[in-house]
Amino acid sequence: MNEKAFTFFEKMAHSDKLTPNSVRLVKSNDFSDMDTAFIRKYAKPNSTVLDLGAGTGLIVNKLFPYVGSIVAVEPFSQFTRYIIKDRKITIVNSDIDKFSTNKLFDIVSFFGVMHYVNEIEAKSIYSKYFNYVSEQGKMIVKNQFGLHEDVTVDGFSEELQENYFSQYRYIDKEIRLLREVGFNNIEVVDIYPKECNRWDNTHFYALVAEK
Ligand SMILES: C[S@@+](CC[C@H](N)C(=O)[O-])C[C@H]1O[C@@H](n2cnc3c(N)ncnc32)[C@H](O)[C@@H]1O
Repeated sequence: MNEKAFTFFEKMAHSDKLTPNSVRLVKSNDFSDMDTAFIRKYAKPNSTVLDLGAGTGLIVNKLFPYVGSIVAVEPFSQFTRYIIKDRKITIVNSDIDKFSTNKLFDIVSFFGVMHYVNEIEAKSIYSKYFNYVSEQGKMIVKNQFGLHEDVTVDGFSEELQENYFSQYRYIDKEIRLLREVGFNNIEVVDIYPKECNRWDNTHFYALVAEK
């Protein structure tokens, strides 16, 4: 994980005020009902899901009844202890950079995660996880993206009262990165209602890519 993002989440993980919603940073940003409904459009009851940067399981906990199984990857056990214990759910406390598997998944999801790594790291992550998507499977990447150019936030955030790093890459660049590692038919979905997008220069999109 990018060092600055790691320090941010590590501090959060050790906070005595930690709640399942903490990982959504801004309270009003818990869009996990919409996220889950969106993933379900691509899922079948027997789908295998690999959820990267699973946090406190806001999505995993809502999604698992509707799919075959979920592997949830998240470095901090302080977060994953909020994930429901169920035979369908496997938790792996690892960085997405270090995680590896010999399995293939029907859905590989990154929700609110890929803006914590820079462009070079993103390309290598996409290239690695391309190999974990099944032949008919999909990779879904959701976060904010730059509308006209990369938007990088690196420094003290008044709103969060913490040092914060995020790189909201230019949406066209992210599509290019996905194409360069081999993905095809990349669908760009304006996933939330207009009012959920608080900034003029960034926008939430879900990118749905096939092999
Ligand atoms: C904004 S939260 C989103 C959590 C969850 N996906 C959701 O939508 O509710 C970002 C999460 O990504 C995790 N994360 C950030 N960078 C990561 C990395 N390189 N590897 C694994 N997890 C990472 C953080 O620890 C945090 O739990």
